[in-house]
Order: sequence, then C-alpha cells, then structure tokens
Amino acid sequence: MFILINLKAYPCDPLEIANAARDVANDSGVRIAVSPQAADIARVSDTGVETWAQHVSANNYGSYTGSTLAEAVANAGATGTLINHSERRLTLADIDTAVNAASRVDLDTCVCANNPAQIGAVTALSPDSVAVEPPALIGGDASVATADPDIVSNAVESTNSIDKTVDVYCGAGISAGDDVIAARDLGASGILLASGVAKADNPRKALEDLVVPI
Ligand code: G3P
Repeated sequence: MFILINLKAYPCDPLEIANAARDVANDSGVRIAVSPQAADIARVSDTGVETWAQHVSANNYGSYTGSTLAEAVANAGATGTLINHSERRLTLADIDTAVNAASRVDLDTCVCANNPAQIGAVTALSPDSVAVEPPALIGGDASVATADPDIVSNAVESTNSIDKTVDVYCGAGISAGDDVIAARDLGASGILLASGVAKADNPRKALEDLVVPI
C-alpha cells in the first residue's frame, strides 16, 4: 500500500513530518510520500522522503502569474503530484492539460475525484492513479473505507472497466492501520490522508501506528 500524507495548509512542521515519514518508510518498507505546500517542496525533498506537490497548473512556461509550473515543482524535488484535489478543483479540460504538464517532467500523477462517476471520467485521461475522496468525510473521524465502502469498491470497478493499469487510492477520515487494511480489502492500492498525521500531537507515532498492520 502507498501512503500519501497531504499537509494541505495545516500549521504543522513539514520537516518534522518529512523526517518521521522517511524513517517510518525505511523501517517498515511501506512506501510513504509527503505532499507539503509548494514553497516547502525543496526542503522536504532534501530530507530524502518521497515528495509530492499538492497541485500543478495546466500551463507551460510563459506569462502565467501565480501558477504552479510542473517544471518548477520537479526542479524543487517533487516526484509526483496531486491534481484536482477536492479543495483545489479543476475543469476536466484543465485536469487533462495538468496531467500532460506533469508527464512532461515525469511526475507521478494522482487525479482526485469525489465519486465513482468522476473517477471513471478522470481515469480516461490516463493518469498513473486516481483517488476517490467523498468531501463530506474529509477531515472527519469516520474512515471512507468503513463509513462508505461502496464508494471505494465502485471506484475500483469504474477504473478497472476503463483502464486496469491505473491505480486506485482512497482518502478521507483515515487515521489508523485498520482503515488502511479496510481500503486494501476493497481493492485500493493506496490511501491519502491529512489530518490524522498533520494535526497529530505526535506525527511520528501516528505514522508508526498506521503502518503496523500493513
Ligand atoms: O488529501 C487527503 C485528504 O483530503 C483527506 O483528509 O484529513 O480526512 O485525512 P483527511
């Protein structure tokens, strides 16, 4: 299972979490990546942890003030990127262009969507992975894999019916190892989580607890 820790804009210490994630990944053998604010990508990447951007823009080089250029996040050390997170939504046309932008610099792409129908639409754009996250469960205590298991299994079915090479992740409310196992049993090959680590009093312990049953 792949574990992607999205730090969003939470008031956490990205280096503390990056160092902990690197150590826990090395000790457990579980693939763990950290997705910090764009301005923190270089120093997070310098810790040695797998580092992802939270977003890349659909533009190339040029007069695009305020954009997040795929080349810039790759040069800073990111090796993957989220696209169309529920809190950073794009049009389908911009998702397509952003996936292509990320592919220019070999970033792993994970396109998020809110439900299995959207998952089907974005799978057709051939990202490396898609992630289903029901907005109502994001930031809460109830894990998507137990509170709404059908949304995960339906997303897996939807993706597999279009392109079996695209991995399916899920996220929202995941904070414990049992949640990760439940997601895996539904067919997901990775999970996205944020508050369970970024808002934890002890992020290292939260990460250690997360990988125990995997
Ligand atoms: O990108 C992951 C995120 O949206 C899930 O957030 O706080 O429910 O783990 P959280």
